[in-house]
Amino acid sequence: MNITFAIDVVDGLTAKDKHLSSKYFYDDNGSRIFQEIMNMPSYYLTDSEFEILSLQAKQIVEALKFNQPFNIIELGAGDGFKTFKLLEYLVNKHIDFNYVPIDISEEAINILSEKLHERLPELSIKPQVGDYFEILNKKFQGNMPNLLLFLGSNIGNYLKDDAIALLKLFNKVMNSGDKLLIGMDLKKNPITIKNAYDDKDGITKRFNLNLLVRMNRELEADFKIDDFDFYCYYNPETGRVKSYIVSLKKQTVFLKKINKTIVFSQNELIWTELSKKYSLKEIEKLAHISGFQTKQNFLDCKHYFTDSLWQKE
Ligand code: AVJ
Repeated sequence: MNITFAIDVVDGLTAKDKHLSSKYFYDDNGSRIFQEIMNMPSYYLTDSEFEILSLQAKQIVEALKFNQPFNIIELGAGDGFKTFKLLEYLVNKHIDFNYVPIDISEEAINILSEKLHERLPELSIKPQVGDYFEILNKKFQGNMPNLLLFLGSNIGNYLKDDAIALLKLFNKVMNSGDKLLIGMDLKKNPITIKNAYDDKDGITKRFNLNLLVRMNRELEADFKIDDFDFYCYYNPETGRVKSYIVSLKKQTVFLKKINKTIVFSQNELIWTELSKKYSLKEIEKLAHISGFQTKQNFLDCKHYFTDSLWQKE
């Protein structure tokens, strides 16, 4: 049994306002559902960032201003599909660098390494399996400059203070002059944002309800999946998408592995996710308070998304 998961479930489901962290979405099943989300036409984030890294690889590399071999360290590399375009550009230009993809899933890292060996045989790749915090517990070693990648709007899942703490941690392990390229989703027509999360096919609903499936399996819980629904909304004033699981009736759930009974009232919510959307001004502020200087924003043609390049001061 994953003990932190069990502890977080007890904490979250016995709180006055029930909650579960979106980081628990990504078991094998959830990772597959997330792939489906990334393939939905309404989930514009993937396409926007792919466009940026495909069409602006040259501009991004020029903005790094590294004039010696460097490392690209990617946090949460996943299947590395977006990053491929950037790597391909560098390899084709015979620019000297190491690629260090880091992911919590060994399976994802193995698939990524194999695919890259096949498609970019000259690429120097040094994969690592582990969570961010294990990897970020000591300063980047050696005298090569580093580009840290944190793509895909993953920062959007963090509450403001937690986002700042994570960015400060990045800052702490980086050396002066190192760069961070961070993917952030921008505020835009609220209808576009709503459609990305409240999809009509129910894929995002399945993604959320998978948390219940996971508790049934890993904690021997007896959630009846059909007695729960999914709700989300976008607040254009705060830039926050908030997602919830809704209990459709008064019901009791037993989690056998941890010997806990949880009571749900009708329409009670479990808050599952925050997906924050930023303005360019907010991005500037966030960079500044975490010790970075904003170098340049690389936007897609629709101005939906930015890969923001920051430098450790
Ligand atoms: C992977 C955190 C960027 O918040 O947009 C997709 C996850 N949640 N649909 C996001 C997600 C619902 C996603 N991130």
